[in-house]
Amino acid sequence: MSSAFDDVISGSEDNDGTIERESESNDTTRHYDLAEKDDWMTPPEIVDPIAESVGGIDLDPCAHEQSTHGDVNLRLEDGDDGLEDSWIAKSNTINPVVFVNPPFSYKKEWLQKAVDEVQNGVETVIFITPDSADTISWWHQYIAEYSSYVCFCEGRVEYIDDTDDSKDRPPFGTAITVFGKASRDLLSTLDELGHVVETVSDI
Ligand SMILES: C[S@@+](CC[C@H](N)C(=O)[O-])C[C@H]1O[C@@H](n2cnc3c(N)ncnc32)[C@H](O)[C@@H]1O
Repeated sequence: MSSAFDDVISGSEDNDGTIERESESNDTTRHYDLAEKDDWMTPPEIVDPIAESVGGIDLDPCAHEQSTHGDVNLRLEDGDDGLEDSWIAKSNTINPVVFVNPPFSYKKEWLQKAVDEVQNGVETVIFITPDSADTISWWHQYIAEYSSYVCFCEGRVEYIDDTDDSKDRPPFGTAITVFGKASRDLLSTLDELGHVVETVSDI
């Protein structure tokens, strides 16, 4: 029995930019590979307007060796460890705005770190994940519990392959979560990228 989910995995949806995948509609392995790769870089059409809206990103704690999203970029290659290092201590400001597109295999660890850092005084964390609100472990434990806002991106985001700068879309949508404070400019930029919802707690 087929379902809408089969369409998502096969890439045969036609309204969200995945149309070019129709020729590969039986190649599900490739899509799973795409989901599991941990080095996909955030495309400029996502990170640039966000950076502009917050007056510049102070820190990217999990930067790729080729990415320069933050004023400060923590890189494994330079001996940094964004999961261990203090984000306030590493950034050049006492109330930093931090942008996190983590290795998706380690979402829980990075989400826990983001929540801890906001509780330690980081002003704003803008955090990229799959838009998997059905995922009980990390979505409900961290995003549903601690976020301020979530933007569900319209269409599939095309990420950049670090090996050859080619672009590709994973077989899931993208959510951009804000932990901590969100300025009006940031919310308006997120509203351009998708559908923004505010998290209500303590009902
Ligand atoms: C999905 S990529 C995102 C790269 C970049 N932040 C961006 O948005 O384009 C995740 C990156 O995190 C880096 N990374 C993984 N673990 C890390 C750690 N503990 N500290 C710093 N960087 C890490 C990997 O090298 C990888 O390039």
